[in-house]
Formats: sequence, structure tokens, C-alpha cells
Amino acid sequence: MKVLGTLAALAAVCSLSAQNAAARHFTKAQIRAKQEVAAKRFALPAPIEKRAAVKNITFSNPLASQFYVDGSKIPEVDFDVGPSWSGLIPISSAKNETRKLFFWFFPPGPQGSLDDLIFWTNGGPGCSSLEGLLQENGPFSWSLGQAKPTPNEFSWTNLSSILFLEQPVGTGFSQGTPDVRNEIDVASQIVGFFEQFLEIFSELKGKNLWLSGESYAGMYVPYLANYIYENATTTLDLSLKGFWVSDPSIGTDLVMEEIPAVRFVQKYENVFAFNQSFMNELQTISDKCGYTNYTDEHLTYPPKGLLPLPGGTTRITDACDVWDLIFDAAVVVNPAFNIYRIFDTFPILWDVLGFPGSFPQIQVSPLYFDRQDVKEAIHAPVNVSWAECSDIRVFPHGDASAPPGTNGVLASAIEKSERTVIVHGLADFILIAEGSRIVIQNMTWGGKQGFQTPIEPDSFIVDGVGALGTTHTERGLTFYEVELSGHMVPQFSPRAAFQIMQFLMGFRKTP
Ligand SMILES: *[C@@H]1O[C@H](CO)[C@@H](O)[C@H](O)[C@H]1NC(C)=O
Ligand SMILES: *[C@@H]1O[C@H](CO)[C@@H](O)[C@H](O)[C@H]1NC(C)=O
Ligand SMILES: *[C@@H]1O[C@H](CO)[C@@H](O)[C@H](O)[C@H]1NC(C)=O
Ligand SMILES: *[C@@H]1O[C@H](CO)[C@@H](O)[C@H](O)[C@H]1NC(C)=O
Ligand SMILES: *[C@@H]1O[C@H](CO)[C@@H](O)[C@H](O)[C@H]1NC(C)=O
Ligand SMILES: *[C@@H]1O[C@H](CO)[C@@H](O)[C@H](O)[C@H]1NC(C)=O
Ligand SMILES: *[C@@H]1O[C@H](CO)[C@@H](O)[C@H](O)[C@H]1NC(C)=O
Ligand SMILES: *[C@@H]1O[C@H](CO)[C@@H](O)[C@H](O)[C@H]1NC(C)=O
Repeated sequence: MKVLGTLAALAAVCSLSAQNAAARHFTKAQIRAKQEVAAKRFALPAPIEKRAAVKNITFSNPLASQFYVDGSKIPEVDFDVGPSWSGLIPISSAKNETRKLFFWFFPPGPQGSLDDLIFWTNGGPGCSSLEGLLQENGPFSWSLGQAKPTPNEFSWTNLSSILFLEQPVGTGFSQGTPDVRNEIDVASQIVGFFEQFLEIFSELKGKNLWLSGESYAGMYVPYLANYIYENATTTLDLSLKGFWVSDPSIGTDLVMEEIPAVRFVQKYENVFAFNQSFMNELQTISDKCGYTNYTDEHLTYPPKGLLPLPGGTTRITDACDVWDLIFDAAVVVNPAFNIYRIFDTFPILWDVLGFPGSFPQIQVSPLYFDRQDVKEAIHAPVNVSWAECSDIRVFPHGDASAPPGTNGVLASAIEKSERTVIVHGLADFILIAEGSRIVIQNMTWGGKQGFQTPIEPDSFIVDGVGALGTTHTERGLTFYEVELSGHMVPQFSPRAAFQIMQFLMGFRKTP
């Protein structure tokens, strides 16, 4: 009731503005003050738990200096980001090697651990990890709608060092002809890169490695983890401990998009604002295609057996393709509809990376990373034109690997890790959280299928916020669902993402 009262008051402020001031509960100044208090509560407690002695990382190999980035000279950034290193490194030591990947490495901030190394990759396939850096978990942010770059209070450099990598070949500034056929090729490119990287930045050898990524990186990261555990124990001088995948491509499109789509629309009925006849049509299709009671019948804890495919196949027929139907209807009602965060409406925010949501945005040219001064500051090739997501097919003949939640790859990577987190934003429509639940309940790891006990509501307690979704841990796997977050969890729910990463890395005991 109290919440409703406040909302009603806010509405009153907006609609009555100048007149009838006596009807308001709060003045604008009071509302601002309340927001400030909430934002302060939301801020990270400082200092966070210290992991190692604070000292600067220095690299003794003279080659490292070629990659040094002066943090006080990054274009448009009006504060010192601190030292970092970036540039292109080949994926093998072969003299004729033409394939090079672009990286940007940040050492830990003053609170961060010197014993660890976080690896971050975005997905796509073909989307640049510089998106993660600038808009998700890097030390400075220039996110959608922001007038200028700001320090990122929730930077993962507060936890440890972090390496952003543009991969596979064909992505961002990376060089060479795209040639990966499957996830093993991708993993071997990344490991090849790492081996060359560690020759130059050899002070990082032996660190604990935490792999992380989002979206299509739900393919990359589990395969990469498995590849490292099984194939690179002698060649890669890093100690892989665990991994993070968020809003991940770990299951088939049928599971991640179609089965949960209508229930998702029903849950967020007021956000989609569909007319009643369309809602009825969705219900009819959902009934016919076996989606309606799927969750109630099969998403049980523990599962009753392997989860069936509603139509007996993973192929999506046109008649049962509710996801596309919903998307088409959503843009009719709201042409600014953002599949990555369903709450967006007009105006579409400007974005220095040119990709603020479902649609490109052309208010800024060149894009930030396509500016010559930016390229020069970070040792990027000036003759390459940069786009957040590449137009080139980075898998020229498609990706022959199956989603890792369907073939034991994810399970095996979990079993070999100290901890794994699978994270899903609840306001993401491109990959739906309930799809992650289905994948988990149909997967066998640590000798059992799925979670044995239910995921409790309000079980994810975020410091400074309170309950903000769910979390559940069994046999080394922790699953999170984050309320209010779209597809990019560190961008849309940075406080929650930071806490999850603290847990993954063993810096806090509770999820
Ligand atoms: C985290 O890092 C950011 C950016 O370097 C900094 O502004 C912030 O104060 C740090 N927070 C904590 C708690 O150390
Ligand atoms: C780390 O390096 C910076 C810049 O060179 C310097 O200002 C700072 O004092 C150094 N910190 C430590 C703990 O050595
Ligand atoms: C480099 O040379 C080796 C041996 O001649 C050959 O097998 C390989 O395909 C070449 N690699 C590239 C990237 O051209
Ligand atoms: C190890 O490498 C081989 C050869 O490339 C590959 O067939 C295999 O799938 C890799 N193993 C893992 C677990 O990735
Ligand atoms: C779904 O379950 C409800 C309640 O058991 C039932 O009334 C309904 O007919 C079922 N719908 C379909 C399509 O199976
Ligand atoms: C569950 O796993 C089994 C065995 O791998 C598979 O045949 C089935 O299609 C999966 N179910 C779903 C809904 O993906
Ligand atoms: C209801 O929505 C559907 C799907 O977008 C559309 O085809 C139909 O014209 C709409 N009806 C009305 C009255 O707007
Ligand atoms: C950019 O320049 C580099 C070095 O001169 C060259 O190897 C590369 O092929 C060029 N790339 C493009 C896209 O022109």
C-alpha cells in the first residue's frame, strides 16, 4: 500500500506539475532526496574485503611497454583510469601467423586481488568485448544515454585484474580471415592467444583464472573451460577455477525462446500492452504447441525424468514460433521495443557504440571505438573500421557445436570447477530465464539430474537492496535470476552482478 501511495504521488507530480501543489505528497526536492538516499545505499561498501597486498603490477618484459595505455589520455575521459595495456597479439608463435586478437587488460584497482585474473567475452557471435568494458564491468563506463564517461563504481577491477578479448577472429579490431568451425576451434584460438599474451605479460602466469561471458558466450565459455581443463593443462600457465555465464546460449532456441515465451508475456502483460484478442491467440497457439502447462508439469524439483520436447523435435515450426509472433506484435505497439530489456520505450537512447537495444542508432558517427584518436590511444589498427557486432560471419560455415547444456559440456565444466554461476536477467526476452531453468533441470552433473530442491522466491538478497530475484546452489552450480535486469546483467544490475562475481571468486560466503 505504501508503494502504491508513493507511485500515485509521483504520477500526481508529473500530471499536475505547476497547479494544485497542495495535492502532492512529496515535493520534487523530497523525491530527489529519497533517490539519493537509495543510490547511496546501493553503492558498494568501501573497502571491500582485501585479497592481497596492494601494489602496482609492473611487467618486466620490455615488449609490454608497447601495449601500455596512459589512463589520463583516453579520449573524452576526463579522469585518470589508471594504467592498462591493450593491442593485438597473434594466436600462435608461427612466423606466418596472420590471426591476431585485440585485448585490453586492466590490473586490479586498489581493493582488488593480485592473485586472480578475470577473462571477459561478449557473445554475438561476432560482438565485441569492448561493449562489456565500456558498458558493463570495466573501470569506466559510457553507457546508453550517458553524456560522458564516468568511473564505474561497480567495476570488476575492484575484485581483480580483468582481460577483455575481442574474439573470435572477425570480431572488433581482431585481424585475419575468420576460420573457426566450432567451439573447439574458438577455444584453441583463445588458448593460443593466452599463451602468447603470457609470454609478454609473464607476471600474470600462475594466477587463478575466472572465465566470464554473456549471451553467445554461453557457448564459448563452457567449451573453453572444458578445453582448458582437458587440453591445456600443460601449455597454459593459469589455474582455471570457475566460470560465469549470464543470459547464456546454453540450450536450443526451442527451450531458451519458444517454450517460455507466452508465459513471459503473461507475466509482463502490462509491459507488452497487447490487445486481448492477440493475448487469446497466443494462448491458443501455446495450448496447441504444448507450451502452456510445460513448466508446471515438467519443471519440477527434482525432475521426474528427462524433460520431453513439446512437439517431439527441437525444430521450430512456423505454427509454433510464438517468439517471432510476439516480437512482431511488440514492435507494433512499441516501435522502441528492446528484446534485451523489455521495459524500454521511446526515446531510443543514444549510444557511443551504436547499438542501444534491438535496433542500431545513428546519432553518433564515428562510433567511439571507430575514432582515430581512440584507436591510437589503445594501439588498435587505425585502418580497421570497428562495429560493436561484426557484419562478417565469424563462423564462415556456421557453428557446428551443440549448445553446451545439451551434450554434457556444461555439466563437465561445472564438475571440474570450484564454483560456477549461471545468471539470468528476468527482463531479458531474447533469451528467457525460464529457458535456463529447463536446461538446468534436464542436465546431469555431479551424479544427479537438475536441482533436487526448489528455487525459492526472494532468495537472492543483494546488499544495499534486499531481495532482487532468486538464487539456488547445488553441487557446485549457483543459479541466479535477477529482477529488473535485461540481457546485460552487469550493465542493468551492476550491484547484483558485482556481488555474484564476489561469490564466484570466493570473496564472499553467501550468494
Ligand atoms: C571501484 O572502482 C571504481 C573505478 O575505479 C571506483 O570509482 C570505486 O570507488 C571503486 N569502489 C570500491 C568500493 O573500491
Ligand atoms: C602505483 O602507480 C601509480 C602511478 O605510477 C602511483 O601513483 C602509485 O603511487 C603507485 N602505488 C603503489 C602502491 O605503488
Ligand atoms: C603457416 O605455415 C605452415 C607451415 O608452412 C602452414 O601449415 C600454415 O597453414 C601456415 N599458417 C598460416 C596462417 O598461413
Ligand atoms: C581437446 O582437443 C581435441 C583436438 O582439438 C578436441 O577434439 C577435443 O574436443 C578437445 N577436448 C575438449 C574437452 O575440448
Ligand atoms: C493446463 O492445465 C490446466 C489445469 O490443470 C488445465 O485446465 C488445462 O486444460 C491444461 N491446458 C492444456 C493445453 O493442456
Ligand atoms: C532433455 O535431454 C534429453 C537427453 O539429452 C533430450 O533428448 C531432450 O530433448 C532434452 N529436453 C529438452 C526439453 O531439451
Ligand atoms: C491486436 O494485435 C494484433 C497483433 O499485433 C493485431 O494484428 C491486431 O490488429 C490488433 N487489434 C487491434 C484492435 O488493435
Ligand atoms: C591494416 O593495416 C595492417 C598493417 O599495415 C595490414 O596488415 C592490414 O591488412 C590492414 N587491414 C585492412 C582492413 O586494410
